Formats: sequence, C-alpha cells, structure tokens
Amino acid sequence: MERSERLRAWDAATLPAVTPSLLNCDFARMTAELDALRRAGAPALHLDVMDGHFVPNLSYGAPVIAGWRKHSDLPFDAHLMIDDPSRYLDDFVKAGCDVILFHIEAVPEPLNLLRRIRREGCHAGLVLNPPTPATAVEPFLAEIDVVLVMSVMPGFGGQAFDPTVLDKVRFFRQARPGLRISIDGGINAKTAGAAAAAGATQLVVGSATFRPDGNYAAALAEVSEAARRGRKPEDDPHSPPRGDAPAAPAAPSSRA
Ligand code: DX5
Ligand code: ZN
Repeated sequence: MERSERLRAWDAATLPAVTPSLLNCDFARMTAELDALRRAGAPALHLDVMDGHFVPNLSYGAPVIAGWRKHSDLPFDAHLMIDDPSRYLDDFVKAGCDVILFHIEAVPEPLNLLRRIRREGCHAGLVLNPPTPATAVEPFLAEIDVVLVMSVMPGFGGQAFDPTVLDKVRFFRQARPGLRISIDGGINAKTAGAAAAAGATQLVVGSATFRPDGNYAAALAEVSEAARRGRKPEDDPHSPPRGDAPAAPAAPSSRA
C-alpha cells in the first residue's frame, strides 16, 4: 500500500482516533502483535523512538520500523524522542513512517524540518512536553498536520496522566479549529473523557492497550467509549458551571 493511501486512511479515521503505542507490546512476537492490533481495529500505530539522550530511555529505530512495515498497512505515527531528528529523517521516511512528529524542545526552529517532512509526502507534527507552553508551537500551526501534547514526561509508558496539559489542548483547539490534536501519556478509560472533552482528536494508548488478557479490541473500545462520552463539553471538569447560561457550544465535530 502506498503512503498516500495510508495517509488518506489516517485523515479519514473516526475521531477521536484511539491509537495504540507499541512501547508495551511483546517485541518477540511482533507479527502476531501487528496482526492483533489490526484485527482490534486500530486506526494507526504510534511508534515511540527514543535515543537515550533526549529522553532517558532507548527503544527502537528505523531498521526495526522498516521490518514492521512489511507486516502492516496501518498508518505509522513516528514520535521521535531524539536530539537530532533532521539527521535521521530520510531513514524514517524510507522505513515507512507516515506521520513524523518531533519535539519543539529538540528543534526550537522547526520550520525547515517541517517543510522537509511534507515535501517527502508525509504529515508533519510537533510535540511539546508538559512544561513547554503552547506559545512555543503557536507560530508553526499553519505548517503542521498534527500537534502532539505530552501528558507525561516522555521516556516511559505507564506514568500518571497530567490533567493540567488540557489547557494546551483547549488553546490549540481554539487557535486552529481544524488541527489534529493528539495526546500521549497516561491515557486510559478514566482519563480519555477529559482529553476528548478538551478537544483531543487522537488518543495515544500504551499500557492500557496491552492488558494481560490480550483483548486489545476490548481495551481500545473502552477508551473510545470513554472518549465519546467525554466529548460533551459540560462533562469537562475545567469547564465553567453551566448555570442558566445558554446551551453550551457543540462538541468539536468528529471530523474536526
Ligand atoms: C511516552 C510515550 C508514550 C507511551 C504511552 O514516552 O511517548 O507513547 O508509550 O504509554 P502510556 O499510555 O502507558 O502512558
Ligand atoms: Zn509517544
């Protein structure tokens, strides 16, 4: 399958798109894992690339992703937690990544790299860590297809969701209403509702996908259902009380 076809599928996914992160899967059984995630209805796969410098952990790189690409037609979201993403861009493009996301903390002047990613026919995205303000990314909103708001400090799965980052999700939703907004870290059936209510359109789910019973379809469905319920703005704990105010504005469209 061509990249353009995979990106069309990514663009057309039902939102919020609950996207498994492969950080917690069984790396000894990847063909089975990829197949199980496809059957579970995953709209894309989130790939966490860590270099041991930008984050204090190592995961996998382009050669490993190229191997997975032979066994999956799902769109690949490559979350590059690396110091020098421009140095390795060609490798990730050739490996079959479709959406390429890098950190604003690693590349504070990201324009050239964003444009290179798009010239390669990929979607481009910026990622920001919990302490980084939304204003660091704001000047580049017209140059990206997706912004990824980290709700934990990157490097490890299984950490607790930080709800204070939802202010940034709301900021991006307002600043560029059609922008894809992804959120990553500590997303599960308990936290997905607030993330979706704030305007997140893609929820990255690591440890909550790979639950011990192996029922990935049920795991993704639980998070999707929680997100769907959360999309009513009045359920957002950060919303002002409704009182006698006129009806709240509609939740962001499912194709926002
Ligand atoms: C964290 C990674 C995440 C991670 C999410 O550095 O970017 O994608 O896999 O895992 P959970 O959902 O367990 O927080
Ligand atoms: Zn990630």
